[in-house]
Amino acid sequence: MCGIAGIVSKNYFNIIPKLIKMLKNLEYRGYDSCGFAFFDCNSKSITVMKAKGTIDNFLANSRIQEKNSEIGIAHTRWATHGVVNDINAHPHVDCHGTIAVVHNGIIDNYLELREELELKGHVFRSETDTEVIPHLLEHYYRESRNILDALKKALKRLKGTYAVAILTSYDSEKIFFARNGQPLIIGIGDNEFYVASDIPAFLEWTKKALVLRDGDIGFVSRSELHIENYMDPNLKPPELFEVPWNIDQARKGNFPFFMLKEIYEQPDAIQRTIISVSHKASEVAADLLNANFLYIVGAGSSYYSSLYAQYLYAKWGLKSMAVIASEFEDLVGGAIEPNDVILAVSQSGETFDTIQAVKIAKSKGARIISLVNNMGSTLRMISDKSIVMGAGPEIGVAATKTFTTQIASFIVILKKVLELQGIDYERQIQSLQTVPRVLSENMEYFNNRALFIANWIKVKTNAFYLGRGLGQPIALEGALKLKEIAYIHSESYPAGESKHGPIALVEEGFPVVVIVLEDKNHSAVIANIQEMKCRGGKIISLIPAGDTEAQELSDLTIEIPRLDPEVAPMLYVVPLQLLAYHTAVCKGLDPDKPRNLAKSVTVK
Ligand code: G6P
Repeated sequence: MCGIAGIVSKNYFNIIPKLIKMLKNLEYRGYDSCGFAFFDCNSKSITVMKAKGTIDNFLANSRIQEKNSEIGIAHTRWATHGVVNDINAHPHVDCHGTIAVVHNGIIDNYLELREELELKGHVFRSETDTEVIPHLLEHYYRESRNILDALKKALKRLKGTYAVAILTSYDSEKIFFARNGQPLIIGIGDNEFYVASDIPAFLEWTKKALVLRDGDIGFVSRSELHIENYMDPNLKPPELFEVPWNIDQARKGNFPFFMLKEIYEQPDAIQRTIISVSHKASEVAADLLNANFLYIVGAGSSYYSSLYAQYLYAKWGLKSMAVIASEFEDLVGGAIEPNDVILAVSQSGETFDTIQAVKIAKSKGARIISLVNNMGSTLRMISDKSIVMGAGPEIGVAATKTFTTQIASFIVILKKVLELQGIDYERQIQSLQTVPRVLSENMEYFNNRALFIANWIKVKTNAFYLGRGLGQPIALEGALKLKEIAYIHSESYPAGESKHGPIALVEEGFPVVVIVLEDKNHSAVIANIQEMKCRGGKIISLIPAGDTEAQELSDLTIEIPRLDPEVAPMLYVVPLQLLAYHTAVCKGLDPDKPRNLAKSVTVK
């Protein structure tokens, strides 16, 4: 969703270059428009510069890089209220341009507030919900002549969620901030204070961070960080923590795109995750084993990995159900009981739908365990227990390394659950431990095959992805990658189900991507390939290495090394990620910035 950035220099340095860099580091949160507000050292006033489009586009058409400022805020937008244009870009200001606000979230009662403020004479310029905030601040500032007081009063009027950063010429040496239901992190550098939606924004300059909680409000100035909680005045300020990521993980390095870099990082990310999750998994194993029922909840790729867990856990008698987070309330909300456990799965830990599902389950007394990648996330804060993966920052909008590390995490967690029952799962764990090496050894082969197939599939408009059992969530994830990155309408079905309707679409040259696993479903999948092939389907199959039967039936194949059948499927997803990546690049698309998407979807 939208990204917020802010910097105040402690040493009278020009912050503009760093503010631009921070915002670029947050661009994965949205790129409909961008904007800046800073206290201009020359004009001694607040300057607002903003425009529709990406930051690069903005930089090419503005003279912001010539500006000099020691304090400023910035925003990159994923539009919710108001079309994508220059006026609706943040920051938004009050009637006199003295209070500038950047906001992530949604103000649900903005129409009512706008009407009230307009009756009082306020003049609005944009169609956004955000614009009520500077006008409310202007209104309350007139009463108290104190921005922090005005902010507290204004926030009490807002219904909805927000993370805000505010710059005002009434108190121009401070960036004010507040959060409720949207992420906001304070970075503490040697030379600057940073305010940001996410850690990678400032990771280059500091690893010292504070994660704000709902109700936290305050300011950073040249010499001071002030935090209080307006919802609970007795709450102590959040604790400082050291971010365990390194800056190279948040840089593209020699790769043309983050997505490719993150695909190639998977061996290391899985290796780190096996270690980091092993430590924590023991703590949650008993909760999972003793749960009345286990719901595994996620959105997007995190839902598909949850589905993998459901298939896997069922094999070992652990009853669970993977639930799409946004459907949680309607599908199972009424059935949640106090002894149930929710395993909430989210890379960002900020996905609105997942957090909502957790809140509903919590209100019914269920126990919440989360599996996240972002250690400073809201989901982690509201969980009873949390497991943090070791994937490192994921910047590419499409999840790649966090999908495979989620699967690795589920396998490690299962081992700990089975251990409690005295059941041996060592063979599978040993197989998992070989994944980083096997993946590294095969990455170039996967990449070359994916590139070759991409050149064929790039002109197609539709594709099927089929799989059975553990191959089904992999097929779902593969289809999602192709549609979201390469804009090819790709749908996944359980291979057996494909003959109950979808097969009607198959005609000469229709691409059918098939996950062929070395498991009990092998012959059934082969039969499904035959059904597609004799109707003209062009079969692209991912097969166990040396599977001549599947090879002979297929038009194009990618051979996957044979590992334990519960582990091997995670290898299959990697060529599918690469296929989506290369298809996008072949079509001249930017795989890091797929249209209409954002990495972290923090609204309903
Ligand atoms: C967005 C992203 C997806 C991601 C999903 C869930 O839709 O574009 O790549 O899988 O959110 O994100 P989460 O952070 O909860 O895993």
